Amino acid sequence: MPDAHQPYEKSIALVGLMGAGKSTIGRRLARRLGLPFYDADAEIEAAAGLSVAEIFERHGEAHFREGERRVIARLIDGPPRVIATGGGAFVDSGTRALILSRCTAIWLDGPVATLAERAARRGGRPLLAGGDPVAVIERLAETRNPVYAQAHLRIESDAHAVDRIVAALGLR
Ligand code: S3P
Repeated sequence: MPDAHQPYEKSIALVGLMGAGKSTIGRRLARRLGLPFYDADAEIEAAAGLSVAEIFERHGEAHFREGERRVIARLIDGPPRVIATGGGAFVDSGTRALILSRCTAIWLDGPVATLAERAARRGGRPLLAGGDPVAVIERLAETRNPVYAQAHLRIESDAHAVDRIVAALGLR
């Protein structure tokens, strides 16, 4: 059985709503497993030379999703790593198919109020712009949770999330 000091053979993709802690938990998980960490949104921004908000504003969401699909495909093509995906990535059927076939997909979930509170802390999230974070997250949870449920694992996004992921993967 592999242990936490051996590289994991597949990439791990963290999926879930804004504020689920995909980047924070992803970074900790990567450190624990000795894998590199990539934040898909940051990679998209680097490739485009624009922030996520600017891409939405200038080119629209559909354009962002195409770029997101390409960037995630490139990340998955590399050696095993931990990838934090943006909240909508797994909802795109093409990106989802890619993630499910090539990665271990982990849905980080939590109470709407917690996700909304965390998501509102950082700006630059076009889907939250001008809206009540709780209402936005609630509405997204309704439509997206059945899709996130297709991930290989669902983990409660709290202080023990990394331990639970490592245990669920059969690592130590
Ligand atoms: C989005 C989530 C964001 C970012 C973009 C769209 C979404 O990522 O990709 O603003 O559709 O839920 P985070 O989940 O990291 O906030």
